Parts: sequence; structure tokens; C-alpha cells
Amino acid sequence: MEDNREIPAVIILAAGKGTRMNSAIPKVLHKLRGKPLLNHLLKTLSGLSAARVMVVTGSGAAEVEESLRQIPDNRNVRTVRQEPQSGTGHAVAQCLPLLEDIEGSVLVLSGDTPGVRTSTLLNLDRERTLSGAGVSLLVGNLENPRGYGRILREPDGKIVGIREQKDLEGDQDRIREVNLGVYSFDASFLRREIPRLDDGNAQKEYYLTDLVGAAARAGVKVVSFPSEDSHEAKGINTLSELADMEAKMNANNIQRLMDSGVRIVDPDNTWIDDSVSIEPDAVIHPMTFLRGATRIGSGTVIEPGAVVTDSVIGRNARILPYCVISGSEVGDGASVGPFSHMRPGSRLGPSTKIGNFVETKKVTVGEGSKVSHLTYIGDAEIGEKVNIGAGCVTCNYDGFAKYRTVIQDGVFVGSGTMIVAPVTLGKGSLVAAGSTITRDVAPDALAVARARQSEKEGWAARRRENLSGNGKKDKS
Ligand code: UD1
Ligand code: CA
Repeated sequence: MEDNREIPAVIILAAGKGTRMNSAIPKVLHKLRGKPLLNHLLKTLSGLSAARVMVVTGSGAAEVEESLRQIPDNRNVRTVRQEPQSGTGHAVAQCLPLLEDIEGSVLVLSGDTPGVRTSTLLNLDRERTLSGAGVSLLVGNLENPRGYGRILREPDGKIVGIREQKDLEGDQDRIREVNLGVYSFDASFLRREIPRLDDGNAQKEYYLTDLVGAAARAGVKVVSFPSEDSHEAKGINTLSELADMEAKMNANNIQRLMDSGVRIVDPDNTWIDDSVSIEPDAVIHPMTFLRGATRIGSGTVIEPGAVVTDSVIGRNARILPYCVISGSEVGDGASVGPFSHMRPGSRLGPSTKIGNFVETKKVTVGEGSKVSHLTYIGDAEIGEKVNIGAGCVTCNYDGFAKYRTVIQDGVFVGSGTMIVAPVTLGKGSLVAAGSTITRDVAPDALAVARARQSEKEGWAARRRENLSGNGKKDKS
């Protein structure tokens, strides 16, 4: 069922110190799947219509606010400073001035809970509004609930409070039902109860979680909403939890790709961003990283150790081991590597070959052309069926500006050639090995641009005799 109710307000708590990260970087700016934790939440929110989004900042506030400014479409996001950081309830209290005119739902999320899904937020909120509750909270049943607030229930199941880890008493640490830190509140309930919180607890903080007990005491209905996937709303408090979340999100994505027919040889050692699309029957070998807006066609084999970012690789292509490919295109049936570096703007046509230790940048390579060994080509346009020998360089830079090289169809460039741009090698021409080409070469011509070889007969033998006759004999 399509759910397009507007959520009047959302608060993201992002002011905490993140002490357990032991890092100078604000917790919510630590990167998960290549982007800050906070961006994950904002992405989730972009899937629902939230009229007003408040991000509470405190620790590293300037950095967090700067990072928020970088996010496109951040118009309805406001930041609210919390100083000092006296707990999650105190953080929400800072938003009260911006909640005065709000009627209905206020969602509260933790900045360190990046896995929560849009559908979960909508369901959680619907649960509250349909049941007329003052609060609904997302709960999970965890194998290891340590660190989480525990849900306290009466024998009849009624929720009567949340107890934080540090405040547990008796055998409460055996409770496995936990608060995942995602809530929907009725705005008027929040306005009334937030100012009444106190800090009479182990951490001397104002706990948002105390609102649940307050509701129960005031006869305001509290409902819980179980998370479908206990991993979804896990909080990130340590770098090890961050690594777990990274691995889990990656595993989910790899599973989805395998289910769709992509062969992933070693799922635990392959890292693929959610934004990458891969056709069935592509084969991805281990130690490979596929990132950003990358697309890979069917029948293509990516051998070990590739790092491919924002690139399009066609069908039945082969990427040999240890290639770095960024912002580039590889045509159908092309072969790249091993050890090739394709920098942005490299476009290989169908059935081309880029061999070992070749670097490319801003170049188009026409169908069937080969650049096989130890070569640099940049700012160049290479036609079809061109062959570039070993160790050639398009000398594109004079220290001030970049110049273009054009190599037309069917050209053969001998090994060790320096092509000093701007220059054009005409169709079907041949450049002798070891040449330094500084002027255009006419179509079908032979260009030889190197010193003529001279020879002195017997010279080497005479040198050997002279040197040994001078007492420089081997002592042995
Ligand atoms: C909190 C909940 C706990 C729940 C867990 C789920 C409280 C008191 N406890 O515990 O019941 O099981 O989340 O992940 O709410 N923050 C502020 N200002 C502050 C303190 C924290 O903005 O003064 C922010 C943090 O940046 C963080 C979020 O609030 O994004 C949660 O704070 P954290 O300290 O991680 O709470 P937990 O101990 O994990
Ligand atoms: Ca937390």
C-alpha cells in the first residue's frame, strides 16, 4: 500500500560525543558504504515526505553542519545546537521552539542508526496514529542486547518503561527486547513531557527513554513496533559495530546480486556499493571493489583485485587482475590489464585491448585497437585497428597546457615512441620504433624520427684489450 502521508516533523539526534568510537571525527560523520552515517538517515527520509527535519548538533557541530550543507536537496533540514550534551531527552528539548506549531507526529531518530528503512518509519508512525497512542517505539529482540535500553513490561505485556544498560537492576540484563532508538511521538505529548524529564540516573543525563515510563504513568498509550530485521536499526557506537554494519549491508547487496544471477566467487571478500548494477552472468572474483555509478554487462569477468569506480563495463569484457578503473568506459569484448590504470575519461571501444602497466586518461580507443604494454596515452583520440607498441608515451603536457594527439585508423606505432602533442598520425601510417614524433605524419607514410645508427668496426674489442692491458685485470 502506498503511504504518502506527510510527517510534520522529524528530529535526528546527532550531538553526542561518540566517546566509544575513540575518534576525533564526529560519530555521525564516520563513513558507512562511502558516505557519512547522517547521510544514510537523510536518504531514508527522502523516501517519505517530512515537512520539517531538525538535526541536533553539538560535538563537532561545525563539521557536522558543514557536511549537511554539502547534501543536495537539504532545504527542509534545520540544525539545532545542543550545548552541553546532557542526554537524548535534553537534545529533543532543544527542538521545542521549532515544535510549537507542530500538530501530529514527530519522528525521533538517532544519528547513529543508519540502517533504518523508510517503510519501517512509516509503519511505526502508522501504528501510533491508528492506535491513538502518544508514543510508538521500534523494538528488537537481540541475541546480545548489551548496551541497549531494555523494554520493561508488566505480566500482561503492557510497556511500563525503558531501562538503560547502566541502570539495570536484578535480572533485567536478561531482557532481550531492546529499544532501537527510533520513535514516533504525538507532538503535544512531547511538548508536555519533555520539560518534566530529570537526570536522576547512572549517567546524570536527561533520557528521552524516560518518556515511555512517563506515558505509562500518565495513562498515555505506548505501542511497540517490532523491527523485521534485527540488524536494521542497530546503533553504531564503536568502530567494530561500524565494520559489522558495513559487512552486513555489503552482504545484503551481494545476496541480492547473486539472487539475480551474478556470479560472485567469494562473497566475503567482494565489496559492491548498492548503486552498482550488474547484469546476470557477469563473474566477479574476490578482492574486488565496485563503487559508485558503475555498471557491468553480462558475460564480463572481473578478475581479482579490481577497483572500479563510476565506470561502465560492457558485455563479455575481461578485466585482468589488479586494475584501477575510474570514470571510464570499457566496450563489449574488450580486455584490460593486468595492472592497468584507466583514469577518468578513458573510453575503450569494442574488442580493444589495454595491456599490463598501461595508463590511460581522457582518450577514446576505437574498435579492435591494442595498447598492450607499459604505455601512457592521454588527451588522445585513437582510431580503429591501431597498434601501439611497448613503452610509448603521448607527451601531452608542456608544463603549462595539455595538447591532443590524434592517431587515425590502422596506424602502427613502434615501441618506445614519444608522440609530442599536438600531433596527428594519419590513417594507415607507420612510425618506426624509438621515434620522437613532433610533426604530423601523412596517411600511409613511414615516419622515422631518431638518430641514424653509426657503427665503428672492432671498436668494442679494442676497448676491452686496452683496459685489460692497463693492469685492471680481475685479481682472482
Ligand atoms: C540510546 C537509548 C537506548 C537505545 C539506544 C539504541 C537513550 C537514553 N538511550 O542509547 O535506550 O537502546 O540508543 O541505539 O536515549 N545524542 C545527542 N545528544 C546527547 C546524547 C546523545 O544528540 O546529549 C545523540 C547521539 O549523537 C546519538 C543518539 O543521540 O546519535 C543516541 O545517543 P547514544 O549515546 O548513542 O545513546 P545509546 O547509549 O546508544
Ligand atoms: Ca547509540
